[in-house]
Amino acid sequence: MSDFVKAAKVAEIPEGSFKSVEVDFERIVIVHTADGFFALADECTHDGEPISTGSLKKNELICSRHGARFDVRNGEVTRAPAIVPLDKHEVKVEGDDIFVKLAE
Ligand code: FES
Repeated sequence: MSDFVKAAKVAEIPEGSFKSVEVDFERIVIVHTADGFFALADECTHDGEPISTGSLKKNELICSRHGARFDVRNGEVTRAPAIVPLDKHEVKVEGDDIFVKLAE
C-alpha cells in the first residue's frame, strides 16, 4: 500500500503551471490551478504521449499530440480523441512541500 511521497516544492509549480515528476517509478504530472494542486498520470490515454508536453488552460490539460483534453480536477476526458480518463492521485501540501500518494 503506497503512502504520501514528497514529490516537489510549492515554489517549483506556480499557479497556472505544471511539472512532471517521478513517484515510485511512475511518471506523474502535478498541476497547479486556481482550484489547487492536482496529480495525474503523465501519459495521455489516447496514445501514450506524456501529457506534460502539452499545455494548461484553466483546469484543462491539453495533449500536444492530437489535442485531447482532460479536467485536472478529476482526470475526466473533456475532448476526444481520448476516451479513458487519466489516473488521478492524491495530493497534499505541507509547508513548502507537495506530497503525492499514488492511486491503488
Ligand atoms: S496521444 Fe494524446 S491526444 Fe493522442
